[in-house]
Amino acid sequence: MKFIKVNNYEEMSAKAAEIIAAQITLKPNCVLGLATGSTPVGIYKNLIEKNKNGVIDFSEVTSVNLDEYIGLTPENDQSYRYFMNNNLFNHVNINKEKTFVPNGMAQDTAKEGADYDARIKALGGIDIQLLGIGLDGHIGFNEPDSCFTKETHEVKLDESTIVANSRFFASIDDVPKSAITMGMGSIMSAKKVLLVANGENKREILEKAFFGPITPEVPASILQLHNDLVVIYSEK
Ligand code: F6R
Repeated sequence: MKFIKVNNYEEMSAKAAEIIAAQITLKPNCVLGLATGSTPVGIYKNLIEKNKNGVIDFSEVTSVNLDEYIGLTPENDQSYRYFMNNNLFNHVNINKEKTFVPNGMAQDTAKEGADYDARIKALGGIDIQLLGIGLDGHIGFNEPDSCFTKETHEVKLDESTIVANSRFFASIDDVPKSAITMGMGSIMSAKKVLLVANGENKREILEKAFFGPITPEVPASILQLHNDLVVIYSEK
């Protein structure tokens, strides 16, 4: 693992964007595993800038996102599909048909999960997976549990995740109570993993996840077993 401490959010965003840009340059038809949440917004801004300046070309890129709330349509401005369109896809020359987000409206979430995993496999796996980390150690929406789940699956969100994510909603009651998330199988099979975090409140969970025991009670701790992991952290 490479643990890089930087001085501020801008530096974290710029460094992470450089790594993703390098991946696109080296393999123009790469598969990017993408995340939502507040942490990657600055990375996406940097990538948009690089695309506008002709530094990177998304025309052959495919993307697969980590997760989606159950019950939110792609048009709902709180859905992760909407977030991705708004924060990245609408502003770069990516082919939207090659951008995938789990379907939160699927009737059969088990089938949706199996189809999502099959799609990732058919694409040849993920070249680089971008991750944030929740205060409880979740990655994607893999919440603390008694075991690691390999497949893309439906999850009940923890109270702490609902509270943390309520900042994006009009009221806490509007936060969906469940989601569909990529499991540890696809995340750990990614050729490279890039985890970004910022803020003093993330320090404790980063210590537990990357310098403590590997346990499903701290889902991100499984990343210690990944042989190409970069963590970029800014305390501010
Ligand atoms: C989002 C996701 C989540 C977030 C995590 C941190 O797709 O998978 O695991 O990365 O909740 O969120 P922020 O960045 O808002 O602190």
